Amino acid sequence: MDRDLFQKESGIIGESIEMKELVDVVLQVAPTDITVLITGESGVGKELVAKAIHSASRRKLRPLVSVNAGAIPEGIMESELFGHEKGSFTGASDTRKGYFELADGGTIFLDEIGELPIGTQVKFLRVLENGEYMRVGSSTARKVDARVIAATNKDLESEVKHGNFRADLFFRLRSINIRIPALREHREDIPLLFQEIARHVAEKNNISFAGITPDAMEYLKGYQWPGNVRELRNTVESMLVVERGRLIDTASIRKYLKEAGDDGHNRNLPVFTHKSAEQVERELIYRALLEVKSDIMDIKGMLAQQPRSPVAVNSQYVEAHVDTDNHSTGENFVPLNEMEKRMILSALERFNDNRRLASKALNISERTLYRKIKEYGLE
Ligand SMILES: Nc1ncnc2c1ncn2[C@@H]1O[C@H](COP(=O)(O)OP(=O)(O)OP(=O)(O)O)[C@@H](O)[C@H]1O
Ligand SMILES: [Mg+2]
Repeated sequence: MDRDLFQKESGIIGESIEMKELVDVVLQVAPTDITVLITGESGVGKELVAKAIHSASRRKLRPLVSVNAGAIPEGIMESELFGHEKGSFTGASDTRKGYFELADGGTIFLDEIGELPIGTQVKFLRVLENGEYMRVGSSTARKVDARVIAATNKDLESEVKHGNFRADLFFRLRSINIRIPALREHREDIPLLFQEIARHVAEKNNISFAGITPDAMEYLKGYQWPGNVRELRNTVESMLVVERGRLIDTASIRKYLKEAGDDGHNRNLPVFTHKSAEQVERELIYRALLEVKSDIMDIKGMLAQQPRSPVAVNSQYVEAHVDTDNHSTGENFVPLNEMEKRMILSALERFNDNRRLASKALNISERTLYRKIKEYGLE
């Protein structure tokens, strides 16, 4: 297929050499049944590329089953992936098909493969090698014809070194590795991405977009984009909706970018810093914690003043469930789960839905964060 047409159909924007090379590799592997490992930082488009591979494959009319290994509790991972027989464990009241079986004839996209429990990895390797698996509670091997695409933003090599990931599986997966570059590695695509996303957002929300000054565009090109294209998309979305029809200049952009300092002085930080990713991450987390703390203070202050009124949290109005019947102490309480939900929302917003950074900031595992997001219906 022609590269331009493919990019148009799959929505992969980018004309830099890096993106062209990436798309060429995608086009080469898509028609085959080869297992592909997609790596890259959060928000670079791993899922987008996985979908593009499926839609350019001969399996495109068959199902694409997306499974996020990080979101499945470890205890039920095997039954989710491979299915189970009736009565194979407490609660298994019926026979159930696993995701592999559902993907038969099509593609299975295993996101966050680094989260696969070590015990399940060997079974996964077996499916990769000969298409065989067993349902939980069965000793009969079954066959499946599912093309596997896996993705991770973890450094699997270091996971192998730390004993969290099987070396044999790593080598098997890594044979075709599509590494999607971070946005700061192909900055020349930023104007095109910006324009396309802005056009799309304006159309979708029926708002006008008055354009952006050349200075502001330079600012965008120089920014680090720790959350990559997802962060760019979110930034454009908020900017267009809030600025409605105003020309976007550097001053307005700074309001939306997280990297800008809080004291107003160091907002124009040199953007090509030599900080390690770890340092940047630590600073982001530190800043987020400070913000969470100040959110708590705000909420406390508001609750003390207006016990029954809705409280503004993250510009949404949330009923505060204030217990004003507690006459014995005269204090007002917000249920802990409500508080937890707000903190999670706040952390997700702060990190542009980057769940890895949000879970670090909240000091819980990514898996726990996924569970809580589901539990509170925050998806
Ligand atoms: N090259 C691109 N062109 C257009 N949109 C893109 C591109 N890359 C990413 N996006 C958009 O950015 C957002 C994030 O992409 P996606 O969910 O595929 O990232 P990811 O790498 O899977 O992130 P994570 O590791 O956090 O799961 C999506 O809205 C996606 O459509
Ligand atoms: Mg993803």
